Amino acid sequence: MSFEVAGDKYDRFMGRYSRELAPRLIEFAGVDPRMAVVDVGCGPGALTERLVERVGAGNVAAADPSEPFVAATTERAPGADVRQAAAEELPWGDDRFDAALSQLVVNFMRDADAGVSEMRRVARPGGVVAACTWSYGEDMQMLRGFWDAARRLDSGAPDEGSMMRYRSVEELEELWQRVGLHDVDTDHLRVETGYTGFDDLWEPFTYGVGPAGAYLAKLDLGQREQLRTEFFKGLGEPSGQFTLSATACAVRGEA
Ligand SMILES: C[S@@+](CC[C@H](N)C(=O)[O-])C[C@H]1O[C@@H](n2cnc3c(N)ncnc32)[C@H](O)[C@@H]1O
Repeated sequence: MSFEVAGDKYDRFMGRYSRELAPRLIEFAGVDPRMAVVDVGCGPGALTERLVERVGAGNVAAADPSEPFVAATTERAPGADVRQAAAEELPWGDDRFDAALSQLVVNFMRDADAGVSEMRRVARPGGVVAACTWSYGEDMQMLRGFWDAARRLDSGAPDEGSMMRYRSVEELEELWQRVGLHDVDTDHLRVETGYTGFDDLWEPFTYGVGPAGAYLAKLDLGQREQLRTEFFKGLGEPSGQFTLSATACAVRGEA
């Protein structure tokens, strides 16, 4: 599984974006300091940590199927109720939370209808269910640049920009309505992250994280080097520090 990696490796790959995105999702969901909140698909805990700052560890729960990510979140959010579980089978009772949030996860769920229905079940009536996913095909420069380069070399490369589900606000809105959430609203959340140089961007792709890391891991050394060169060229051959932007599609509704 492409998320069975150490938390610090994920952080260098995607967590640098998750940290920027977390306060935006919290604001969009309307989490206030009196709420009890669950983070579904918490990864190594970027959103969980921010939720703890907002509502206190005793009011935060989190779940993820990946054992190393659960370990990382447990360490990062002492006192929070962190469990190893998938969205489709959340280990909490009905109406337990004021808000259920999920950052960059809905598109990875085995059964998104079941996962979001579970988020709705654990949220109290009138509670918030909110999530965001990358707008892969448009403004997610890191993955867009990688897959554009991969496709130039291999027309069969599994570009997340065309393979992923739930990468538009329309698809998310339909899902939210299908599982019975109401007062559904959507938005786009834009973040940026800085790199010290191209190696700071490239090296984390070699850790095997997510679909891009899994694809790279299957290539031989020569093919990897070709892809690295193609990616570098596609980004305009950056010689020093640079910044990349990413836009997430966000959705919220009431349980
Ligand atoms: C791109 S990461 C996002 C992690 C974290 N929320 C963040 O913002 O960085 C996707 C996460 O979804 C988790 N995941 C995959 N399938 C899942 C499922 N069925 N239910 C819940 N989480 C799942 C993975 O283990 C991984 O932690």
